[in-house]
Amino acid sequence: MSSIFGNMVKVSVFGESHGAAIGVMIDGLPAGEPVDLEAIHAFMERRAPGRNRQSTARREADQPEILSGLLNDRTCGAPLCAIIRNGDTRSQDYAAMANIPRPGHADYTAELKFHGWQNRAGGGHFSGRLTAPLTFAGAVCAQLLARRGVTVGAHLQAVGPVEDCRFDPVKVTAEQLQTVSAKAFPVIDEACAQPMCEVIEAARQAGDSVGGIIEGVAVGFPGGIGEPMFDGVENVLAKALFGIPSVKGVEFGAGFEAARMRGSQNNDPFTVGEDGRIVTVTNHHGGALGGISSGMPIVFRVAIKPTPSIAQMQQSVDLAKMEPAELHIQGRHDPCIAVRAVPVVEAVAACALLDMLLSDVP
Ligand SMILES: Cc1cc2nc3c(=O)[nH]c(=O)nc-3n(C[C@H](O)[C@H](O)[C@H](O)COP(=O)(O)O)c2cc1C
Repeated sequence: MSSIFGNMVKVSVFGESHGAAIGVMIDGLPAGEPVDLEAIHAFMERRAPGRNRQSTARREADQPEILSGLLNDRTCGAPLCAIIRNGDTRSQDYAAMANIPRPGHADYTAELKFHGWQNRAGGGHFSGRLTAPLTFAGAVCAQLLARRGVTVGAHLQAVGPVEDCRFDPVKVTAEQLQTVSAKAFPVIDEACAQPMCEVIEAARQAGDSVGGIIEGVAVGFPGGIGEPMFDGVENVLAKALFGIPSVKGVEFGAGFEAARMRGSQNNDPFTVGEDGRIVTVTNHHGGALGGISSGMPIVFRVAIKPTPSIAQMQQSVDLAKMEPAELHIQGRHDPCIAVRAVPVVEAVAACALLDMLLSDVP
């Protein structure tokens, strides 16, 4: 099984939802980098379950234990390994449906690949819980990026039909990104928070779930990083972002909208900026051209599907009997994954961007 990502900075995620612990190994971090554990904890709290009404009732401390790689709060060059012990597991919620795959989840495809040997409880290795160690890795990488002048941020751009405004793709600043990230409900325009929460609550009450869109931005990322063709900025980011369970689409800059534009609209004119740097007047390209960063903000959007586990009765199959079966899912599930996925998107983007930056430094 490959749950490893990265070239220079390799991030390897392990564990299962109801196993003893979940964790991450980060290999390739430069030695001597200060790591602020309090800031990491604050970052991870943004993803942790059970903190508000928009999330699952499963309560986990999500307290990382560092097993190796840190000495006196600095990286020591050895692989950095952190685990998070699982506490609030209720495997009995899953026992009744052990042979009945949940539509929209990975139960059926895991069965095809692992022939029944997989740990099914709580979604096993496919659980959204595995994004906790991923968030730890991203929080570490974000600190290294910040020291190199790069800030990554994200916000909930849409929940169902309710839309937040977008970051200005040319003028967005590190301070704006940090302000939104610090919010309990990460939207730019506060006015859309309440309608978004109402959409989520309505889905919950209907025994249903709702999807969303997350917009991510990195500012301060230098130009000239990335490779043509298969290891470009977009390729590397997309590969990492698709590692987040429930991500169904990733677009950069104008994205799919570019297909509806003329060249004269989509092309970003070059000019000389106030600081003498070459900049573009608009940013439809989203910070990468030919796979290589332009020095403009890297702008991407991630589509998050509605939570597969819903309370409504669903049609499935009993794999042991090979006959149709009705599925009534017990357990505690987010009615909208997108809310808690915002820091995960930031974290994964931070891992990918640090990896590219360190891979490309002469
Ligand atoms: C933060 C987070 C929390 C999640 N919580 C749940 C959940 O409570 N119930 C559920 O069915 N899926 C949840 N998921 C999504 C599933 O893990 C995911 O849909 C499943 O593994 C199938 O993968 P795919 O959607 O990428 O194909 C969550 C995902 C994330 C990122």
